[in-house]
Amino acid sequence: MRSEHPATLAAAPEQGATEEATAVAHPNIALIKYWGKRDEDLVLPRVDSLSMTLDVFPTTTRVRLRADAAHDQVTLNGAPARGEALRRVVAFLDLVRERAGRAHRAVVDSENTVPTGAGLASSASGFAALAVAAAAAYGLDLDATALSRLARRGSGSASRSVFGGFAVWHAGPARGTAQEADLASHAEPVPTGDLDPALVVAVLDAGPKEVSSRTAMRRTVDTSPLYESWAASSGADLAEMRAALLAGDIETVGEVAERNALGMHATMLAARPAVRYMTPATLAVLDRVLRIRRDGVPAYATMDAGPNVKVLCRRADAGQVAAALWEAAADGTVLVAGPGPGARLLGGDGR
Ligand code: ADP
Ligand code: DP6
Ligand code: CO
Repeated sequence: MRSEHPATLAAAPEQGATEEATAVAHPNIALIKYWGKRDEDLVLPRVDSLSMTLDVFPTTTRVRLRADAAHDQVTLNGAPARGEALRRVVAFLDLVRERAGRAHRAVVDSENTVPTGAGLASSASGFAALAVAAAAAYGLDLDATALSRLARRGSGSASRSVFGGFAVWHAGPARGTAQEADLASHAEPVPTGDLDPALVVAVLDAGPKEVSSRTAMRRTVDTSPLYESWAASSGADLAEMRAALLAGDIETVGEVAERNALGMHATMLAARPAVRYMTPATLAVLDRVLRIRRDGVPAYATMDAGPNVKVLCRRADAGQVAAALWEAAADGTVLVAGPGPGARLLGGDGR
């Protein structure tokens, strides 16, 4: 892969030489959701969240420094990034440049295999890959914790995609200095017991959402009378989720994930104006998940900022769950994901 563009990490390049790096990251799906910021600039969340990084839908991002360029040049899925998408990447690179004490502009080429802006966590894989590639290209030597903190600044959920498998993202202390809060707010791996999970993903609509996650969560915090009660219950959900993961208790993991996600959607429905990502196709799949459960198979739904549904079940049941979802998903597609790897740099041979 990309052997024609080897990643190089020269620490002290010659004048005008190109430094570049390529990284891969996978999306993650939260079982305890991140919804709401307490600091927009630092991307500090209101609540802790917990997710599974997937083994499908990788994003590959290459960053090349350009000594002679006046602007960053960003390509997303083969097309020049514009507007908000460009602004977010440039702001992220500015942060990396400030830390590295370097002014070089960059050429960024990123390819998502996950639909972009569809509620399937493209911003998570996208900014995790960008964090790893940009840090390397600009010569920052960061461990996984520091990369998670950095990725957070691009998109909160990206902090979790730095790690593989299950990860918790700490909100950090509500009081204290900005620096203390920034340091404390990163993801880390979560210990699990004997759990062989799958997330069956029903892609019902791969098109981009009308309201971004960022805008929707801001509106929810600012206007939804249900937000504070969901945020308060989310702490108890997290504690129960961690215990259930350790115990390998997929039923409790699923029940808590499903209620946490439905509660998050309730907060948005109560926002003014309402934010509704669920469509009739979403509800048809949710009905089907109830039927699967009534038939004795533990399967639990979670939805993000989009109409698509992810169903948690045992890997051994994933084929059966996927077959049922195919029937319910009308024109959609269904795929089975397992726990995937953390973000990583591709080597000089492109692997
Ligand atoms: P999603 O549900 O896909 O995470 P969001 O609304 O959170 O949707 O974020 C979508 C935005 O994330 C895109 O419009 C773009 O600004 C940014 N994004 C997605 N993929 C990438 C990528 N590979 N590189 C940089 N930015 C990306
Ligand atoms: C519903 O991380 O995409 O998927 O930090 O503004 O980029 P920004 O938002 P983002 O929000 C994700 C929201 C969610 C829940 C989750 O992934 O925890
Ligand atoms: Co996102």
